[in-house]
Amino acid sequence: MTASDTTPKVKKSVISSGNEELDSKMGGGLPVNSLVLIEGGSGSGKSVLSQQIVWGSLQDGFSAAVFTSENTVKSLVKQMQSIDLDVLDHLLLGVLRIYPIELSSLGDLAPTALLQAMQHEKSRDVIVIDSFTSAIIRSTNNKHTMRFFEGCKRLSAEGVTVIIVLHSDAIDPEHINSIRSMCDAHLQLRSEQDGQRLVKLLQVAKIRGAASSTGAIVGFEVEPGWGMRVIPISKARG
Ligand SMILES: Nc1ncnc2c1ncn2[C@@H]1O[C@H](COP(=O)(O)OP(=O)(O)OP(=O)(O)O)[C@@H](O)[C@H]1O
Ligand SMILES: [Mg+2]
Repeated sequence: MTASDTTPKVKKSVISSGNEELDSKMGGGLPVNSLVLIEGGSGSGKSVLSQQIVWGSLQDGFSAAVFTSENTVKSLVKQMQSIDLDVLDHLLLGVLRIYPIELSSLGDLAPTALLQAMQHEKSRDVIVIDSFTSAIIRSTNNKHTMRFFEGCKRLSAEGVTVIIVLHSDAIDPEHINSIRSMCDAHLQLRSEQDGQRLVKLLQVAKIRGAASSTGAIVGFEVEPGWGMRVIPISKARG
């Protein structure tokens, strides 16, 4: 028996982050079956945000697969536990699958190899790639990257919510704009000085079907034992 058998739920039409304040800034959550881009610089909170979304999905009865270039299975579970996102039971029940990936040695073939691995997981409700940057670090040709995103778009049309984490500077400006426009949701993260503090900012650049939240900026901190805590940002930012 799986967790979803024991806790039958009507699945929601949005993917929640499990954090109400964040969800409200995202127009209630990320639409299911969408292609989501989480973009930002190093240390801006991309992994924490994607982990929060995985946890929120699992709480709502969705199944998930995470492809991580940053962690082993064990270290990812520990990292999530350290911000109060315990997914061990879901992992043991098979509702969550975690795949460590090492793609840099594959060069130009890495995006295609990753897409094939994702296609094996297309029965999952949510697939997260953290991060796709590792797949293009040795790439010499943007064609493979664009094909990867087209493949992700097809997966989302087949009923998977695909969440791709990407470092902003990993792709040239011409191609990053094409990728952004292919995505149904685009979350942009950055760290910024706010008076004395260094805060993290999440800009909801785009969410399909939730025009009112487009452009919303939310400040947050990552607190040990708690996770993403939404904080007020300076009056200057409004
Ligand atoms: N358990 C934790 N306790 C305290 N701070 C944490 C914890 N986990 C993450 N952080 C902090 O949250 C911030 C965002 O980390 P995160 O790993 O999400 O960044 P990232 O954008 O994925 O960076 P990278 O591009 O290097 O992968 C960092 O400052 C990190 O130190
Ligand atoms: Mg990261």
